[in-house]
Parts: sequence; structure tokens; C-alpha cells
Amino acid sequence: MCGIVCYVGNSKAKPLLIEGLKRLEYRGYDSSGIAVQDTGRMDYYRAVGKIVELEKRINGLEINGTTGIAHTRWATHGEPTEKNAHPHRDMEEKIYVIHNGIIENYQSIKKRLEKKGVIFRSDTDTEVIAHLVAENFTGNLNEAVRKAMSQIEGTFGIAVLHKDIPGQIVVARRGSPLIIGLGEDGNFAASDVSAMVRHTKNVIHLNDNELATITKDDVSISTLQATAIKREAERVEWSAEDVELDGFPHYMLKEIFEQPETIKNAMRGRLDKGEGVPRLGGIIPVWDKLKECRHIVIIACGTSYYSGCVGRYVFEKLTEIDVQVELASEFRYRKLNFPPNTFIISMSQSGETADTLAAMREARRKGAHLLGIVNVVDSSIARETDAGIYNHAGPEIGVASTKIFISQLTILTLLAILLGRHQNLSLTEGVEAIRAMEALPDQVQSILSKANHIEAIAAKYHDKSNWLFLGRKYQFPIAMEGALKLKEISYIHAEGYAAGEMKHGPIALINPQMPTVAIAPKDSLYDKMISNIQEIKSRRGPIIGIGTEGDTALKEMVDDFIEIPQTLDFLYPILTVVPCQLLAYYCALMLKRDIDRPRNLAKSVTVE
Ligand code: F6R
Repeated sequence: MCGIVCYVGNSKAKPLLIEGLKRLEYRGYDSSGIAVQDTGRMDYYRAVGKIVELEKRINGLEINGTTGIAHTRWATHGEPTEKNAHPHRDMEEKIYVIHNGIIENYQSIKKRLEKKGVIFRSDTDTEVIAHLVAENFTGNLNEAVRKAMSQIEGTFGIAVLHKDIPGQIVVARRGSPLIIGLGEDGNFAASDVSAMVRHTKNVIHLNDNELATITKDDVSISTLQATAIKREAERVEWSAEDVELDGFPHYMLKEIFEQPETIKNAMRGRLDKGEGVPRLGGIIPVWDKLKECRHIVIIACGTSYYSGCVGRYVFEKLTEIDVQVELASEFRYRKLNFPPNTFIISMSQSGETADTLAAMREARRKGAHLLGIVNVVDSSIARETDAGIYNHAGPEIGVASTKIFISQLTILTLLAILLGRHQNLSLTEGVEAIRAMEALPDQVQSILSKANHIEAIAAKYHDKSNWLFLGRKYQFPIAMEGALKLKEISYIHAEGYAAGEMKHGPIALINPQMPTVAIAPKDSLYDKMISNIQEIKSRRGPIIGIGTEGDTALKEMVDDFIEIPQTLDFLYPILTVVPCQLLAYYCALMLKRDIDRPRNLAKSVTVE
């Protein structure tokens, strides 16, 4: 998704902006650009492709200005070409704008401006902002941006620079994140803290319909109605090291290997072993209503949605609550009809996913209470929910989500145990569940220690162009997640299916060229899975079995076997997903894919 980084201060802006853009690379993009203000001129460059292309263009050039804006673009309106890359300019080439989001009424604005003689240079929706700001500019940039904001519909995080107003950047937000960083040697603004965390940890979040004028010594925030706002800076806990590779070849592998720690972080301070009751401080504000609730709707997208699907089975097992899981992109357009006291749980790593936000808002309109399970602190979803639980997982940089999936499963399970203990779940069951959860970090570690074995299996099958992932009950969403991981980073076609559905169609696909990953831990549906595995075997389909250690029967039945330690039925997904992640990673590695930045994908999907 698009990324914004701005700097105004005493140092040269160019290296800081380029460094910031590189930190935003993980979000996914297809072109980039920079505008640096210098006395009487603007150094303005754009390039298609990776940031190195932009660097090649500006290397060796004297760009000495100390105020600048820079952008990574992920095409929505108009192809990924240089003319469509940001910043965009007005006709007089005085106003430079970068933008994340989508301007929904850009066509009508464009038509009106064209009639006035404005000539557009790009196919983007963004360019209208530059012309609108120019149209409203009478010497005060903040005022011009404010007036332009009142004419545009849609979502935006923007930063605007005027060639003749030195040392000043105006930023604004509606629906797209925009964070201001207060540095010692100047101030920053970015769409994501990772772009500036190396230089400052003191940040101010801009809210919707707010704008700010940033200079090297001052930040003044105001509303769309020009009312001044005082807001204290907050401290970001993420360190620069948190966003470094730490010796791993890819962020995805680093994040897979961080998972034992991720589980610990999700549980830290939240377990009461004696009472078998988790403590979740973030939900205290809604606890009285939540403990009476009998209907929960989990809304999420992609990998977060699959963790919600596992959550449904876990809640079904441990509580008396009906749980519905919905894809946010579908849910937002449905006719909603909830029982009273329904809770929505929005799950999101980024906390900025546009569909999830829109679905939450729709549910709010219909009277539901909103809970969030979110990783990025103070993100839009976190701020719009009534209460919530943070993952505390640190930044997830790899575009393919791994550690957050495991963290979401951990937190959903804690929540289910907590609610279950206020319903029918006994003390013994609560204590047993918590004990089993405490063993998970070491168990995940033991799977990771067999990564070489999984790499060897990937070497055997990575050239197969179609894969099937099968599971039942708790393992059905893991089959879908395993298939998603493989397809998104290796570009191999893969499908995740409920094993019981095989006979209703997919079994027709089975042949010696199509590997099946059969997820068959020793749980309540083990025997049923074994029958499905037999059916595949008799059609000569190669099988990679993921099963419980010591299961020699399964080991002998399948072509390749990946062992996982024993745990409770509803905790197995936290273990079985790990081999699926590693299989996807190693296949993608062998196919020489751009693992952390797979084609066409973005880390944070802030448009519908
Ligand atoms: C897949 C992946 C995506 C995200 C989805 C939701 O590996 O990362 O499917 O899970 O875009 O993102 P969040 O969780 O940020 O709302």
C-alpha cells in the first residue's frame, strides 16, 4: 500500500526520506518519488519500480534541502508509471502533494477544473488535490489544504509542500493513517511509525478530519473548522532493532522463528494459573456486557479471517456463545440483524484494513459493541473499538502474515477461556487449558528446530504447480491458511479444503503431480482424516502428513511426515500452522520469489 514520509529540520532531507521510504517498502508498492525544497526551487524526482531505481536517479545530485516529502505508490487509479507516481504538482509547479487513500469524487472535481483550463498530467485521483490546493491558495498553505479537504470525498492521508514557503509541511488525514514524529533535529510525518522510529520515538497521531502544519520547531494541529487542538506526544515502544532482520535472510523467516516469543508476549501477565482464568485488562471497560453476551461476530480479512475461523471452533468448545465469522469485505454490504448485546471482534494486524474498519462502523450503526484484537497500537481500528486486546507482537514486516496469526489464535483462546470460566467451563478445565498454553512456546520451538526437514520436503515438491491442503474442524482454517501462505509468496496454486468435502468435488483433481498437505493431529476427528488420506493415497496422490509425534500409523501411510508435539485439540492449530508457514517459505525461496514483498500485495490494505 502507499507510504508517506516527510521531514523538516536542520539535516539534509534526502537521505532521511530515502531511508524512511525503505522502511515502508514492506507495505508493497510499485513506484516512488521525492520532492525536496531548496531556496527558490524544488528537487523533484520519481521512478517506477523499487526504491533503488529512485536512488539511481538522484545519486550524485546536489540535493541539499532540509524539507521534503516522499512517497511509495501502490497503483489504484492509473498504471504504475512515472507520470502517475507521487508527488503530484499543480499547474504552476508550486504545490507538491503525496497521498495515501482514494479520492472518490475526483472525476467530478477533475471535470470542473478542466473546464477552468487546468491541465492534468497523470491518471491519478491524487492530482486533483494539488490543483484544488492551488485553487484555494492565497498565501496560507494550511488554509488552502483545509479548504481543499472540505471538497474531497473518500479517504486520505496527505502531505503538501509549497515551493515558496520554506520549512513548512502541511499534513492532513481522513481515514488513512498519518503520524507526526517529534525529533531532536527536526520533525517527521509518516503513514507508519517504522519510517521514523530510528530518529524519534515521540509521536502524535492525527485523527480523522485533522490537519497539522509542521516546521522544524513546531507542530500545530487543527480541525477542519480551524479549531486549534493541543495533543501530547506518545512514546512508541518499538525499537529500530525490532524492525531489523537480525541475521535472517527474510523478515518472514525471522517472524516465523519469533513465534515462541510471540506466544509468550500474547500471554505475558495475562494468566492466572490458580483460578484457570486469564486476565485481559483491555476488556475491563466492557466486561459487564461482555460476560452476558451470547453472540459474537468476528470480522477480519485474509489471514486474520482464518484465525477468526479457528476462533469460532474454540469458542464453541469452551463457551456457550454463538460465534459467527465474517469476511469484512462481504459483511459491510450485508443486511445486518444482530441479537441484542452482540459483540463484534475486529481482528487486524495493521489496524488499518479499510474493509474491516468499514464493517465495524456498519456494525456500530446497528448497535453492536466493538472489541478489537489488533497489533498496531493506536491504529484506526484500535481507536474506534470500545475496548480491545493488543497482540504485543512487535512490528510484522513480511507481507505474508505469520506471527500475528499465532498471536491472534493465542488471544482468542485466552478470551474464550475467560468467558467460558464465567459460564460452564470448570476450574479443572480452565487450569488444564492454561497449562497446555504455557507449553506452546517450547512446542513451537521444537517444530522450528526441524526446519531443515521441512526444507527438504519443500525441495521435493516446490516444482509442483498445484497443491491441496486438507483439514477438519480446527484444522480446516489451517488448511486454508496453509494454502494462502503458499500461493501468496510462491505463486503456486493451492487450495485449502475441509477434508470432508473431498468427495464432493476436489478429489477429481488428485493425481501423482498434485501434493496434498494433510493436517491430521491426534484430535477428535483423527479417524475421519485418516479415511480421507487413504482416499488420496489410493488415487496415487503424494501426501505430506502433519501429525502428532509418535503417530507411526500416519507416518507409514504418508510420503513425508512432519511431527508436531501433543497438545489439547483446540490448541493444535497453533502448532500445525508452523510447518505450513515453513513449507511456503522454503518453496518460495527455491523458486527465488521476492518473499517479503510478493508481487501485487501490500502489507496494509488501506483501500477497499
Ligand atoms: C496474508 C496477509 C493478509 C492479511 C489481511 C488482513 O498473509 O497478511 O491476508 O491478513 O490483509 O490484514 P490485517 O490483519 O492487517 O487487517
